[in-house]
Amino acid sequence: MSKDNVSQKVILVVDDDEIFRETLCSGLEAAYTVMSAANGKEAMAIVNRAKVDLILTDARMPGMSGYELIEWINLHLNRAIPYIVMTGYLSLAENTDEKLHTYKTVTKPFKLADMKRVIESRLNQSEEEENEDISEIRFCQVPISDIVLRPVLDFDIYLQLSEQNFVKVAYKDEELPLAQIKKFKQKGVNHLYIRKEDFSKFVQFTFDLAKSVSSHPSISPAKKIAFLDHAHKVIMGNIFKEGLDQQSYEATADFVSLSVGTVLESHEVLDLLEVLKDLGQNVYTDSYAAALYSVMIAREMNYESALTAFKLCIAGVFQDIGKKEIDSEIVEKNETDLTKKQQQVLESHVVRSQKILESLKCIHSDIIRLIQEHHEDLEGKGYPFGKKRPEQHPLSRILQCSNVFIERINLKKNEEAKVDVAAVLSDMEKSYKNRIDAECIKALRSLFKIPAVGAEV
Ligand SMILES: [Fe+2]
Repeated sequence: MSKDNVSQKVILVVDDDEIFRETLCSGLEAAYTVMSAANGKEAMAIVNRAKVDLILTDARMPGMSGYELIEWINLHLNRAIPYIVMTGYLSLAENTDEKLHTYKTVTKPFKLADMKRVIESRLNQSEEEENEDISEIRFCQVPISDIVLRPVLDFDIYLQLSEQNFVKVAYKDEELPLAQIKKFKQKGVNHLYIRKEDFSKFVQFTFDLAKSVSSHPSISPAKKIAFLDHAHKVIMGNIFKEGLDQQSYEATADFVSLSVGTVLESHEVLDLLEVLKDLGQNVYTDSYAAALYSVMIAREMNYESALTAFKLCIAGVFQDIGKKEIDSEIVEKNETDLTKKQQQVLESHVVRSQKILESLKCIHSDIIRLIQEHHEDLEGKGYPFGKKRPEQHPLSRILQCSNVFIERINLKKNEEAKVDVAAVLSDMEKSYKNRIDAECIKALRSLFKIPAVGAEV
């Protein structure tokens, strides 16, 4: 970058300590166009009327802190302005060169030369961001509660200002600006956004890349896209959704697609999903429906974590993969027409699914447990283990409920032209009393906006 370019950059110095502010401004004037403000209010007025390339603000000021100023900018301006917060809180001993470069917070006192280096690094970072076309980025929504659990980020985080407008509010490899994120939450912001390609890191989905790369050529993007398109069509077209809120249904379907896309990084998984497709439309559709309803029920029950939703989703999609080892005649036959022996063979799909998933090595143990328990019930009358409620994983109850709901909906679809969801739910409450978690059925009622029988409307 030439010096001419650098000097056109506008730095706004915000500090209530007049002597410090003036000293810093005069130190920076040789390299930048410098503006100054004595407090947050003055700074707000300046950024509203002038193009500022970087804000250098004191953390503690009367009226409005530096962090509050940054938060205000993120929420009210249509663009993010890179910033550096100067704080006197950390001990001088911690003010190492490395820290100056790693964090957006700089500890006072500092050497002017060090500060110039930090400024340069922030400006370069922001130039890279300017070159990045945000409209090209595909985002996915993640709950704030998930984000605050991470002390250091391995991905950037964005705030949505309007439908098409996102600003970066936290940076990869930096400390999470916890105070700022908590304030977003206080203002009613419940979700932030990450890039879709960072989703696998978010749900901690990892697999042995080295093994995968050495034994296989990489999966062609076209193959992945073709599979995802097909899966998405199934989710959007063939799964029962009458009466559901269209927007939240689509958002969940998108989440299911994204989760499946994440596991498609592995060849073995892609092969398995292709097999699922070959098992016939019913197994394929019901598996996706189980994933979709489980995620919706979980969200309705305030299980907000994206990792939880991911586990339910993958368990739902793969729960019946073991049927690939069973004679298709048994799989396709109506369950009531099966002989006792055939019934036993069909039930063995649970252990078969479990073993197949275990062999992949990349699947989280909770997902395997959910698959193991997807035909159990709370009274211990399910299979293969007859586990009772206390022995079951809490998320299994959601998958169980979702499976029974899909089974009942399918039955109704075969019997009647229009499915009466209220009747299906009442029937579940009666026939599966004490066998399915009542809270899960309550969540389904809430999703379909069907009050409980006898409840006030
Ligand atoms: Fe099953």
